[in-house]
Amino acid sequence: MATILITGGAGYIGSHTCKLLASVGHLPVAFDNLSNGHADAVRWGPLQTGDICDRRQLRAAFEAWRPESVIHFAGLIEVGRSTADPATFYRANVAGSLALLEEMAAVGLRRIVFSSSAAVYGIPVSSPIPEEAPPAPVSPYGETKRAVEAMLDAFARACGINYAALRYFNAAGADPEGELGERHDPETHLIPRALRTALGLEPELVIFGTDYPTPDATAVRDYVHVSDLAAAHVAALDRLASGGGPLTTNIGTGSGRSVQQVLESCRRISGCRIPARTAPRRAGDPPELVAATGRAARDLGWRPHLSDLDSIIATAWAWHSARGA
Ligand code: UFG
Repeated sequence: MATILITGGAGYIGSHTCKLLASVGHLPVAFDNLSNGHADAVRWGPLQTGDICDRRQLRAAFEAWRPESVIHFAGLIEVGRSTADPATFYRANVAGSLALLEEMAAVGLRRIVFSSSAAVYGIPVSSPIPEEAPPAPVSPYGETKRAVEAMLDAFARACGINYAALRYFNAAGADPEGELGERHDPETHLIPRALRTALGLEPELVIFGTDYPTPDATAVRDYVHVSDLAAAHVAALDRLASGGGPLTTNIGTGSGRSVQQVLESCRRISGCRIPARTAPRRAGDPPELVAATGRAARDLGWRPHLSDLDSIIATAWAWHSARGA
């Protein structure tokens, strides 16, 4: 059994990963400032309340738990807000990650799995997107993810930190056993917004952009089930533990689904009408983001198992409808 420190362990992807880590025999210690995470989502290991920007709190957590690896989810995620308030994003995502890496180096902790994002690619020139595509983020959010990737590389060369940077495409769905799900405030993501509309909590779903160069003119994304994402982290830890070198890889399915297809699946699975209206494109949204999947299969032995669109939406619907939120 290994002790793993999970920054952001009370958040959406972090909490699902803690559950999976515990099920394979590890002790996940959630390190979270609870600004966006939920204490009641930490059920498979201890919660150490703390902020990655506070080096004393980090050091105290390392001393108390002596983890052998870190999975680093903590950070801010709303792309639109990052444009309006870049300082807050750079502080939380870049300065916070720097503090974490410095403390890891100070205590000789050498393994980290990092939550990167497809946002590092910006507006891709081809699809599916290979990892070799040049990073060209179009939002401060994407820039912070790219900056941390560069920092990891520099720390790997300078002090032997070994890392896996996982570039998630669109995380979606909920724990198939109904114990965890997506709870953002504000909620900006397509699937929870559509399902909240189905529950009557929002008056209508707004479809951003109906003039994209895609088959049905709405934007295409690569939705990957959160439990599959959790499994990618466990595979990345295994790779680091067995001496695999630094890795940056996409985590996606290789299949794109349009906003219209997602809406139709939400209608079918919920049995609700889900009123919708169209609106102009959201600033910075690329027409299509779909992962090339070869590297994750080859270097992590990872493949999605739950990420077909109906499984994603059925698990999300079970979660939202059970909570009424
Ligand atoms: N969309 C709508 N209506 C909504 C919400 C979203 O039409 O109410 C559309 C968006 O315009 C986009 C698609 O649905 O075309 C998916 O949007 P999400 O907000 O669910 O997800 P994003 O693709 O914008 O964001 C995801 C991650 C981010 C990450 C980004 C990288 O959630 O963390 O991919 O581009 F930065």
